[in-house]
Amino acid sequence: MTASTGLKLVERDASGVDRAFRADVLAGLAQPQKAIPARWFYDDAGSELFEDITRLPEYYATRAETEILRARSGEIADLVGPGRAVVEFGSGSSVKTPLLLSAIDPSAYVPLDIAGDFLRASSAALAEKFPGLPVWPVEADFMRRVELPAEAAQLPKLGFFPGSTIGNMIARTATDLLRSMRETLGEGAMLLIGMDLVKDESVLTAAYDDAAGVTAAFNLNLLTRINRELDGDIDVEAFRHEARWNDTFARIEMHLVARADVSFTVSGQPFAMRAGTSIHTENSHKFTRRSAQTLLAAGGWEPRGRWTDSAGQFMLVLAEACAPRSAP
Ligand code: AVI
Repeated sequence: MTASTGLKLVERDASGVDRAFRADVLAGLAQPQKAIPARWFYDDAGSELFEDITRLPEYYATRAETEILRARSGEIADLVGPGRAVVEFGSGSSVKTPLLLSAIDPSAYVPLDIAGDFLRASSAALAEKFPGLPVWPVEADFMRRVELPAEAAQLPKLGFFPGSTIGNMIARTATDLLRSMRETLGEGAMLLIGMDLVKDESVLTAAYDDAAGVTAAFNLNLLTRINRELDGDIDVEAFRHEARWNDTFARIEMHLVARADVSFTVSGQPFAMRAGTSIHTENSHKFTRRSAQTLLAAGGWEPRGRWTDSAGQFMLVLAEACAPRSAP
């Protein structure tokens, strides 16, 4: 088993700052409703806090998806067939990825992630668990088309995008991602994707505002990251975490709400906020069977199988890349 050091595809400036991070933060803070894309939560500390979230009693999604993978891996394997290179969009989780890899007899494992250290650590752990399976980690922003390692070029692919991370994107971005996944994965690809389902509002708000305050720490860590990486002087204590259900868009929103009037600078640029206003940091869309099918179709994927957990909280969809159609 080989875990390579990975290809470096993230663009950094001379001081080592991720250019896209700086651009997103400065543009997002300049808007009337301040907003920063959720993908910037995941520095090493954020990735570890997210792992803690997945073990919280209120956060059902990871347990539900794991239950589906355990119970249905045989059916999934029958539809997928052997010999595919599994391309995971995000570094492998310690539980879900091994469940999939043990079930389907893959030819290689290619995790893609923007958080390099976390990616290398989880790839090495995976490599130890699966002796003989080539592991080729790629440090990349998978929101754009990714050049896979040359060794993977001729292998049929199975994309794996668990956790309902697709729900963290607005429909237009999600559609763009699904299309670029098709380009990254090539002809004949399949995609196994987790999608969280619409459910009782109280269950959803508890899942995103847990009693132990781990989700609050995850949200606030974004400000700490901005201070460290973008030379910011934000008073983190001046903000509080809030999770809101937005019924119009069927999504949970996370915000960082200013407790009082605040002003701060980031990369030398000044910003000010009134008490009670917020930085919108995450959308987590929830799906129905229909809305999931519509989104996948818009991205060029046709469902071949769908499974939910016993409580009906979460859905795993296996889709196949469909040929472009002109009509109707
Ligand atoms: C990664 N993503 C699918 C998580 C979610 O549920 O939207 C991120 C998260 N945010 C707060 N808790 C978990």
